Amino acid sequence: MKPEIITSISAMKKLTGKHAGLTGFVPTMGFLQEGHLSLVRLAKKQCDVVVVSIYVNPTQFSPSEDLASYPRDFERDYALLAELEVDYIFFPDNNEMYPPDYNTWVEVKGISEVLCGRSRPSHFRGVTTIVLKLVNIVQPDYMYMGEKDFQQITVLKKMLKDLNSDTIIVPCPIVREPDGLALSSRNKYLDEKQRQDALCLSKAVKLARQSVAQGCRNPEVILNIITQFITAAHGKIDYIEFRQSNDLSATEIIDKETRIFLAIYIGKTRLIDNAILLQ
Ligand code: PAJ
Repeated sequence: MKPEIITSISAMKKLTGKHAGLTGFVPTMGFLQEGHLSLVRLAKKQCDVVVVSIYVNPTQFSPSEDLASYPRDFERDYALLAELEVDYIFFPDNNEMYPPDYNTWVEVKGISEVLCGRSRPSHFRGVTTIVLKLVNIVQPDYMYMGEKDFQQITVLKKMLKDLNSDTIIVPCPIVREPDGLALSSRNKYLDEKQRQDALCLSKAVKLARQSVAQGCRNPEVILNIITQFITAAHGKIDYIEFRQSNDLSATEIIDKETRIFLAIYIGKTRLIDNAILLQ
């Protein structure tokens, strides 16, 4: 069966809300790559009905960001999702999601304001608002999300808990290119030289993990090593931080729960990565 394309909220609500089996949901902004598809595959394995949304959510982009140039290719996305036998593709337009009188925002204080939230102040407000709307529309049992956006998962888990939602987030591992670069729709912006330079991000993560494996538990020491490494590779650092996985609190000593979080610019393209440090 080919996936059914649903563009209206009322039609989507009728289809999944009252379904007897488990509904799995994968929210995306389209231009699908293996990272997205890994979430869809897991949802297919674990659920009876699978919904993928494709919606480039304008409210999570600031005016200076790449909303207009964000890559889109619905035909290709549709073919990929058909191959995976997805049941429904929710593909609304802006008027459906944000009609002219739209006026409600969802904000998770604290953890939305650190890491990516510092350099993108309105970003998570846009993410939490759209994801709560999508959860209300699709009413999934499980929502599949990638650890590439680890802060996004943490913020959304807190939102669902605080607002008493029954939807459970299933975190999925980061899918990488063979050379280590985490897959991202934004990798498309990199030219050949920048693509090579971008490798410094995953290499920096490796370097940090190596230092920890060799016994280092001091974030400052690792910060110095990888700052030099990234700068030498033409990366401009937005942030490199060490925080605990459960609540993103800052940490002074690296333990089993500590993650390194990085955001760097290669040219104008902002790339992020993160990893647990101690195995
Ligand atoms: P988007 O960037 O399209 O990502 C959709 C989902 O795919 C997210 O959960 C993201 O973490 C996951 N993903 C992307 N690249 C991945 C990779 N290399 N490995 C594993 N998972 C990966 O994230 C968003 O869209 C939006 O903020 C959204 C949640 C849809 C709200 O608009």
